[in-house]
Amino acid sequence: MPRAVRFSRYGGPEVLEIAEVDRPRAGHGQVVVEVVAAALNPGEIGIREGVFAEIWPARFPEGQGNDFAGRVAETGDGVPAFAPGDEVLGFAPRAAQADFVVVGPGALTAKPAGLGWAEAASIAGAGATAWAGIEAVGPRPGETVVVSAAAGGVGVLAAQLARLRGATVIGTASEGNFDFLRDLGIRPVAYGPGLADRLRSAAPDGIDAYVDTFGASNVDVALALGVRPDRINTIADGLAVQRHGVHSAAQEQADDPAIWAVLADLVAKGELTVPIAAVYPLERVRDAYRDLATRHVRGKRVLAVKPLSDFEGDHR
Ligand SMILES: NC(=O)c1ccc[n+]([C@@H]2O[C@H](COP(=O)([O-])OP(=O)(O)OC[C@H]3O[C@@H](n4cnc5c(N)ncnc54)[C@H](OP(=O)(O)O)[C@@H]3O)[C@@H](O)[C@H]2O)c1
Repeated sequence: MPRAVRFSRYGGPEVLEIAEVDRPRAGHGQVVVEVVAAALNPGEIGIREGVFAEIWPARFPEGQGNDFAGRVAETGDGVPAFAPGDEVLGFAPRAAQADFVVVGPGALTAKPAGLGWAEAASIAGAGATAWAGIEAVGPRPGETVVVSAAAGGVGVLAAQLARLRGATVIGTASEGNFDFLRDLGIRPVAYGPGLADRLRSAAPDGIDAYVDTFGASNVDVALALGVRPDRINTIADGLAVQRHGVHSAAQEQADDPAIWAVLADLVAKGELTVPIAAVYPLERVRDAYRDLATRHVRGKRVLAVKPLSDFEGDHR
């Protein structure tokens, strides 16, 4: 029987189960994808714990996971763009951590042949979120941009996208990630008390734009350093958005297969790196979320729904 991650009550990782489910069939205008890898994102923890129950209630038994990569298993009528066997990546809200997902063709794009499955699974979530944040602040060549939590799933991609636009990028991180960031061309600065002073020293000529992927006091720090509100984006501080009118561009603003295709191409060509911190077999989904909840990472944590080595061309 096909498997799917499910939970039937709000709670910690212990509520997550691997359920046996029916194999979905492709109706008119639908595509069934056999999932190879599905990414993990911190927002899924809040949904599962019920923190967002008022705004995004669960419908039990609830599925989990959004961004994935896999192979088209079946197409319904009216889907000329995809055929069985095509390698794809996409977005299936609260459903991606499963052997099969059923989506519309507008939720998919082709996976370039040279792109690993784990990396591909991270494009429509963290990749799109990073893209939206960078688009919102529009770094220009020669400018200095700060990215908070620059070793995180979103931050590490946002920082590299700002570099690709020709900006000098300062990334906040804990010291253990400094060399990791330097290797990606990002100048590391420690987060925490005294951050504004450290950023002033690191960028004596000033900071032009600030992309916050962590929250806490990052927006206040950016404003204190003289960054204009329209050149600040946060994906983790709704209050600062209300108070200061800074941008809050996130995944929704880049929920577009054309953008995912550009990102996938950059990764396949080696111009953008999606560091994979860990790959867990689907059965270890609880451990994966326990690790994700530590909020210390280098890039993305990903579930291998199929053993990745079974899939031709994968380099892991
Ligand atoms: N709205 C959307 O569409 C959307 C989409 C994706 C994500 N998000 C949100 O964006 C945020 C980031 O997601 P993510 O996937 O990048 O998270 P993640 O991969 O779990 O990254 C966590 C990062 O936070 C850093 N960190 C830990 N404590 C910190 C502190 N006190 N100050 C500054 N940084 C600290 C860690 O740095 P070290 O490891 O170096 O300590 C690590 O790099 C989350 O709040 C998530 O919910 C929103």
